[in-house]
Amino acid sequence: MPKLAIIGYGNMGKAIADGLLLSGNFTKTDIVFGTDDASNIKAVKSAKTVILAVKPDVIPVVINVIKDHLTTDHLIISVAARVKINNIKKILGENNRSGSSNSRNSKKHIPVVRVMPNICAALRQSMSCWAKSREVTGARVKVVKFILNSIGKEIEIKDEKQFGLITMLAGSGPAFYFYLAELFEKFAQQNGLKPQDAEKIIKQTFLGSAMLFDKSDISAEQLRKNVTSKKGTTEAAIKVFKKYKFDKIFLKGLKAGHKRASL
Ligand SMILES: NC(=O)c1ccc[n+]([C@@H]2O[C@H](COP(=O)([O-])OP(=O)(O)OC[C@H]3O[C@@H](n4cnc5c(N)ncnc54)[C@H](OP(=O)(O)O)[C@@H]3O)[C@@H](O)[C@H]2O)c1
Repeated sequence: MPKLAIIGYGNMGKAIADGLLLSGNFTKTDIVFGTDDASNIKAVKSAKTVILAVKPDVIPVVINVIKDHLTTDHLIISVAARVKINNIKKILGENNRSGSSNSRNSKKHIPVVRVMPNICAALRQSMSCWAKSREVTGARVKVVKFILNSIGKEIEIKDEKQFGLITMLAGSGPAFYFYLAELFEKFAQQNGLKPQDAEKIIKQTFLGSAMLFDKSDISAEQLRKNVTSKKGTTEAAIKVFKKYKFDKIFLKGLKAGHKRASL
């Protein structure tokens, strides 16, 4: 595996690094970090595979600093939400859509991959959805898959326009589970349960539910119905969710996020 540069060591950059190290496929000496202009340049000089894990508005800043040091042997992997492959190509100074190769064009065409991972990468449980520019073929696809499989599961998204939706499902997805967990915690504590007991109960309930959903071939809807006995306790709660249109509110939230992610 080629040496990796991770530019941006915040929540996502750290989660990716932790997952890669946990996989055993990478050691500390295989990864260099870029945290400012000087170390970003040093990182791309020593590693051909470069993961950009800075905020979307910092992507142009970073690329402008490193671009003179990039060659066609490099592979750029950006995890930034909302930043299209073509945007990266433009900042790199390449004008062709998706970086299509033109042998008569003297400009270098750097292979670019856009990934939407999630924070579960730290435990090798990310769902990483990715799209690629035309130069990413053969061995480079293998490199991308190897990296992403090291931090969880991966899926190639052929139509980059779906990234707004993917961002909601895979990138932001964990936050919605955590939001629900927060509400459970609040409810448990309001009703007198010790915080550490509430945390233990909620964590195992979420984990068990996720594992059951993962391992069974029953739909989420049917699994939910299996827990909801007629006139039972779950049904009493679900009736209230339905009365106050929880589903509509939730879908409205997802729609707003989807819109923001698609800008
Ligand atoms: N967080 C997630 O769950 C998640 C999920 C999917 C995708 N993403 C994407 O991942 C990217 C990073 O998100 P994040 O949540 O990890 O943000 P974050 O925690 O703010 O991390 C960004 C890091 O980049 C550093 N940085 C700023 N300017 C830099 C520069 N010029 N060179 C090198 N490093 C620089 C920041 O340092 P300072 O704090 O010192 O400025 C910070 O450590 C975003 O584009 C986001 O869309 C995040």
